[in-house]
Amino acid sequence: MPPLTAVIALCIPFVVLWSVRARRWAANLNGPPSQSFLLGNLLQLVAPETGRDWLLNASNKYGGVIKIKGLLNRPSLLVSDPLALHHILVKEPTVFEEWQAFTITNSLLFGDGLVATIGEQHRRQRKMLNPLFSLQHLRSLAPSFLSIAKELEQLLALRVGDDPQEIDITGASVSVLMPAAPFLPLLVRLGPARLRRRVVEMIPFRLIQKLKNIVDILAAQMEVIFREKQSLLKGGQSDKHDIMAVLLKANQNSSKSECMSDKELLGQMATLVFAATDTTSGAIARLLHLLSQHPEVQARLFEEMTSDERELNYETLASLPYLDAVIRETLRVYPTVPMMFRQTTADASLPLLHPIRGVDGHDITSVHVPKGTDVFINILGSNHLRLTWGQDASEWNPERWLAPLPETVTKNRSIAGVYSHMMTFLAGKRACIGFNFAQIEMKVVIYTLLRSFEFSLVPGKEIGWNMGLLMTPVLRGSDSIHSHMPLLVRKRK
Ligand code: HEM
Ligand SMILES: *[C@@H]1O[C@H](CO)[C@@H](O)[C@H](O)[C@H]1NC(C)=O
Ligand SMILES: *[C@@H]1O[C@H](CO)[C@@H](O)[C@H](O)[C@H]1NC(C)=O
Ligand SMILES: *[C@@H]1O[C@H](CO)[C@@H](O)[C@H](O)[C@H]1NC(C)=O
Repeated sequence: MPPLTAVIALCIPFVVLWSVRARRWAANLNGPPSQSFLLGNLLQLVAPETGRDWLLNASNKYGGVIKIKGLLNRPSLLVSDPLALHHILVKEPTVFEEWQAFTITNSLLFGDGLVATIGEQHRRQRKMLNPLFSLQHLRSLAPSFLSIAKELEQLLALRVGDDPQEIDITGASVSVLMPAAPFLPLLVRLGPARLRRRVVEMIPFRLIQKLKNIVDILAAQMEVIFREKQSLLKGGQSDKHDIMAVLLKANQNSSKSECMSDKELLGQMATLVFAATDTTSGAIARLLHLLSQHPEVQARLFEEMTSDERELNYETLASLPYLDAVIRETLRVYPTVPMMFRQTTADASLPLLHPIRGVDGHDITSVHVPKGTDVFINILGSNHLRLTWGQDASEWNPERWLAPLPETVTKNRSIAGVYSHMMTFLAGKRACIGFNFAQIEMKVVIYTLLRSFEFSLVPGKEIGWNMGLLMTPVLRGSDSIHSHMPLLVRKRK
């Protein structure tokens, strides 16, 4: 593909300059040896089958702040230390800013939604969206969740019939973006938005094309719905259970300077659909996989859900401690998004809760980080930290949520994530806005499905989880990178 070659050739001088910038700052930091001059540790980090273990091994072996090598062996940081993460996400989020590659890709894909904006624009958008995700508002949405889950159950019942049936519970294609991510900052610095879009279109990954098509269709649909709601609202009609309608109303109501433009609103809608669907369905898929591997947990859940006949509503869902424990433990041990990215916009200093050993043999309690450094947030490593969760941190054990949590978890509330002391939904002003939404959705779906069906593994078919922006289930040995999760589904009598 000649244009791509030209783009790469044009990039080379920038890449060389960029990589030879002082790297002495990281000389005293330990980390895994680089694997290649060109790509450093990047391929280990994104390796589909082993990336997750690599990420975990790295933090277990070297501690909470690790030097890993990026393009042309440029040093970057992999962080799982609780205090350092608090610093990055809560204390200094404008210094440790969202990766440009991420916001720009998001803006190309979804328009000016929350995941594509930074600074004041982000703050303004977030302020307007927050009330929509409050527990109080989500409570009022519960009936819609329940009717969607009922539909899902009926669809599944049609497919299962009277005999156990093998069914594929599928997921997303976004994770294939991951291998290209480290290269995007170079590509996107090349020019104006139109050119940038062309560059993304040229990236020779068929699956990115597929993803772009999905999003284009999505955006077109959004626009239609958006216009419809807008005209309904003008006519004085508005449904308070409809997120989009409420959003439009709140927007109309707010002062001129805080108001979102039509373009931003459309961006929000595409963003929400995208951020909400693949993440949550991935988490539900993981949970169903685990329940298939642990029939005793599945049986206990069934018992809890059927112990007395109650109407399914928000209160019922909130009063199922074992279901709650199983969901928390699943999101802790298997965070759907295993890693996030930041880049420093200024020199910074990163304090550590647990000191690390330097190359010179001395303890390090604070790391100096120069401007322009890539920082990988090790969500997975942080959720598995033995110093926080105990020696069995990597074990999936729902019981731990039914007993008092260790003090190392609860005593340091301020340095934990936005949800349940863990980093699954991150922390700070860019934390996941939808974490309560995701909880309710997971509870409703699992409650509805488990009461009607029993899930088990298909003999002879091994499910693996591939590393990516999102963890994706695949059939091991099929060399397919498409998500695929066959489970045996049996109707309960
Ligand atoms: C298990 C499910 C989910 C997981 C693991 C998850 C995880 C995350 C993470 C890690 C981020 C931070 C990304 C960053 O640093 O840029 C994030 C952001 C976000 N999430 Fe979620 N999410 C989930 C479900 C949802 C749902 C259900 C919604 C919406 C209904 C949602 C909407 C968003 C939005 C809008 C952002 C951007 C927030 C901002 O930049 O201010 N997510 N999510
Ligand atoms: C992670 O560590 C385990 C145990 O030391 C080892 O068996 C495994 O090969 C390692 N995996 C990777 C990808 O480094
Ligand atoms: C609109 O503004 C009024 C007065 O400031 C407030 O009482 C009302 O709750 C707002 N409505 C919405 C949907 O934000
Ligand atoms: C909590 O964090 C502080 C530092 O901020 C540390 O000194 C203390 O040991 C931590 N407590 C626990 C129980 O981990």
